[in-house]
Amino acid sequence: MSHAPPDFFNQSQQRITDALKGVVATEDATVSAALTDASLYSADNGGKRIRPILLQAAALAIGGESDDMRLDAPACAVELIHSYSLIHDDLPAMDDDDLRRGKPSLHRAFDEATAILVGDGLQAKAFELLACAPGLSAQQRVSMIEALSVAAGCAGMVGGQFIDIQSTDCTISITQLQNMHSLKTGALIKASLRIGGIAAAANDAQLQALDTFGDCIGLAFQVVDDILDVEGDTATLGKTSGKDTEANKPTYVKLLGLAGAKAEAQRLLESALDALESFGDSADALRDIARYIVQRDH
Ligand code: IPE
Ligand code: IPE
Ligand code: MG
Ligand code: MG
Ligand code: MG
Repeated sequence: MSHAPPDFFNQSQQRITDALKGVVATEDATVSAALTDASLYSADNGGKRIRPILLQAAALAIGGESDDMRLDAPACAVELIHSYSLIHDDLPAMDDDDLRRGKPSLHRAFDEATAILVGDGLQAKAFELLACAPGLSAQQRVSMIEALSVAAGCAGMVGGQFIDIQSTDCTISITQLQNMHSLKTGALIKASLRIGGIAAAANDAQLQALDTFGDCIGLAFQVVDDILDVEGDTATLGKTSGKDTEANKPTYVKLLGLAGAKAEAQRLLESALDALESFGDSADALRDIARYIVQRDH
């Protein structure tokens, strides 16, 4: 199931990790050094950086440059929201996970109150970055803040996480599961693509194509996450495998079986690629990442 990521992927990953560390390692003397250390613990680790990489690839598809410095702040913003969501997702009151990205989860390495506050701080920092993003117009910055706040909130990630917690130990329909996955994971992925489009001054038709691609690949991402929870091993995943079954979570594998879930991921990949038909070669990075999302092993 492994698939070597393309060069674009590795270069973007490094650029984003460097930028993220710079953002979190503030020199502002009013910020507690202990809080910065705990925040850096989360920023400086083995995340795949899929969301900011998709943001850069979306800008590339519209005709921008993926290494345009103006993308750095928005790219960090979406990754900060993602990192905060993982820190809170791992808390004892939520999934109660001890391992994240191959290391003790933040509340294990520090404590629960620190984990809650680091998450809160990363979330606020994301919106600060967008509000102050250099080189972008006021209209672009406001549109990005709108896209990210809707995707992160009750009509997006938080709403999906709430349904996830409420649905534990319950049987839900495939339509309800799809809605939950689209909200908790799909929304932020879709917003990352839209933000990349906004940065590159995409027109409405281009943004619509990115949205459709985002709907499909965002859902596919969580379907594959469900598959990997069953098929992956803890060392490769960097998080404890088998947790969904142990916690009795509704997942695509539980509802459709492994073969059914894999067929659904493949169908979503094909729909995602279809949505990019109007883009030429400039969308090849997006196409590569979409394939990687479905073929990845962690
Ligand atoms: C894991 O996301 C949580 C989900 C939304 C499924 P990733 O698989 O992108 O996690 P990292 O950032 O690479 O660790
Ligand atoms: C998490 O989904 C989605 C988020 C919004 C963080 P999971 O609970 O399946 O993510 P993992 O498997 O712990 O990474
Ligand atoms: Mg969860
Ligand atoms: Mg979890
Ligand atoms: Mg999971």
